[in-house]
Amino acid sequence: MKFLVRPIGRLRGEAEVPGDKSVSHRAALLGAMAEGVSEVQGYLEAEDCLRTIAAVQALGTEVTRKGPGHYRIASGGRAALTEPADVVDCGNSGTTARLLAGVLAGLPFWTMLTGDASLRRRPMGRIAEPLRAMGATIVGRAEGTKLPLAIRGTDAPRAIRYATPVASAQVKSAILLAGLAADAPVTVTEPAPSRDHSERMLRRFGARVTSADCVVTLTPGPLRAASVVVPGDISSAAFLLVAGTIVGDARLTLHRVGVNPTRTGLLDVLEAMGARVETRRAADESEPTASLTVSTSTLRGAEVGGALIPRLIDEVPVLAVAASVASGTTVVRDAAELRVKESDRIAALARELVRMGATVAERPDGMAITGGRHLHGAVVTSGGDHRVAMALAIAGLVADGQTVIDDVACVATSFPNFADTINALAGTTAIEVEP
Ligand code: S3P
Repeated sequence: MKFLVRPIGRLRGEAEVPGDKSVSHRAALLGAMAEGVSEVQGYLEAEDCLRTIAAVQALGTEVTRKGPGHYRIASGGRAALTEPADVVDCGNSGTTARLLAGVLAGLPFWTMLTGDASLRRRPMGRIAEPLRAMGATIVGRAEGTKLPLAIRGTDAPRAIRYATPVASAQVKSAILLAGLAADAPVTVTEPAPSRDHSERMLRRFGARVTSADCVVTLTPGPLRAASVVVPGDISSAAFLLVAGTIVGDARLTLHRVGVNPTRTGLLDVLEAMGARVETRRAADESEPTASLTVSTSTLRGAEVGGALIPRLIDEVPVLAVAASVASGTTVVRDAAELRVKESDRIAALARELVRMGATVAERPDGMAITGGRHLHGAVVTSGGDHRVAMALAIAGLVADGQTVIDDVACVATSFPNFADTINALAGTTAIEVEP
């Protein structure tokens, strides 16, 4: 599938973005581990999160779709989960594989996990190592560090104190989910704070979780069913926010976007680059939400690194597009994690944005982007990475001539109606989808 993208001179209106991917995965997993009936509204019906639903069903959880994004999850609790009859395919979804591994570490049976070619390349040693320390048996490719993996948990994992070398919410969450069944409290320490959706949702489902700075402690115990309303995904909103800043004659308002402070790094950077982001906060639920308004702005380069990186890690592809048209140089550092996402995003951005006329210098832990370039249409490829595909499409909206983006079916993993959303705001077919 391809996107054919044409430049636009106007982007106006209001939109809602699809449900938050991280929060949706957690709602399905905690719903399956909690005793009773949980209701989830606003669930992201994209491939990644549907993989998590299929996974909890394979473990014996009853999931009923009651309407768009509305699911009823009925479970007898962790003890009622049963051995899947077949391999669980996590597709493209790292969050499904890593968080599910944590759940499985507390279950006394074998489960086989696999994924697509991208996910089978991604590092799993980062969760396998602490989960083994908790008593799980994990075997598989590359000495048990790559999918397919076979996992056999135990119904009383050993409590650990674990210092993760990377600031990863997936690693932290895997340990916390395994820790629900542990024999004593588990503690995870991170080098910088990663997204805290698991901690918030675990509390909502009745778990005892304390967190301060970069240390989280969970006291084991049963979960009770809860209702969850999933906010809009700021990582999907990011594409529209950047478009609404770099397209001429733009003014966009996005409603009900999740603005959890562990996720809002892009808003801070866009403001530092000279964009005006108006934030109207809604009443706080367990995840804060807001309406965000942006309009055409003149951007300048920024320095992006340190503790900011985990707060915008998934937004770097589209930030690179903003940096390409900003004046001055933008440097992204401390972001080597980008190399082990759905693709090597540093290499992909350097390769593809340069084809459109940008100046991007690859570095081991990030990139330097010299802005002020006028982008031109080109034939580019996503390399099968949804966020690279969408970032290139946003670049195409401000490039001269037509941009052809190959391999865009992957957009369905997180933002199935991306092209329609942009086209509605543009008032024209800016992004044509070619089967
Ligand atoms: C996620 C955590 C991040 C992020 C991913 C979703 C999560 O990954 O990049 O898209 O839902 O926990 P890491 O934990 O590998 O940093």
